[in-house]
Amino acid sequence: MADADPQEITVPASSRYGGQVLELFIPQAKIQGKVAEMAAVLSEQYRERCPILIGVLNGSFMFMADLVRQLDIDFEIDFIKIASYGSETSSTGTVRLLKDISADITGRDVVIVEDIVDTGLTVKFLRNRMEEAAPASVIFVTLLLKYEVANLDFTIDYVGFNIPNRFVVGYGLDVDQKLRGLRSLYAFREN
Ligand code: PRP
Repeated sequence: MADADPQEITVPASSRYGGQVLELFIPQAKIQGKVAEMAAVLSEQYRERCPILIGVLNGSFMFMADLVRQLDIDFEIDFIKIASYGSETSSTGTVRLLKDISADITGRDVVIVEDIVDTGLTVKFLRNRMEEAAPASVIFVTLLLKYEVANLDFTIDYVGFNIPNRFVVGYGLDVDQKLRGLRSLYAFREN
């Protein structure tokens, strides 16, 4: 494991949030512990079944990479990229497919891997997109769920951390496309 997490990080000047301070929100050790737990549950559930894990770009790339390294089953991976144009606090926006999956998922066991469910707009869209392809099963796994704002009429099967409505950055999540490489999760300091 890398060095201890800095307690604070300053957003780089190349971002329009440059100079603002982020505070440690979930340290890398806690994230890695949770990822291992989730991988163990998935390995148990999908023993002998070879699921296809579909990561939602860009944010899920790091969670996906860590999760699959902890699985001890056969699996395949694919990725999908979505753009959502919702308001930040409601799920009334629209969603557009930027990159579809390549795999044929008909009759397959599908595991959607998200970094964060915020308003819920993206996972709702994905649920419909997956159902069109008639997979054998679909479940949703997310590292983070904003329980105060997520507006869903179905259950997210596995949630790593239920978090309040804060802007979180790192471990794949960006601020203005920056800071995705941080090993821990950080949040903008609340005044
Ligand atoms: C983020 C995140 C989820 C989505 C969740 O992606 O990765 O896919 O938002 O938000 P929702 O529940 O309100 O739909 P974003 O659009 O920021 O793109 P990124 O993954 O490339 O950062």
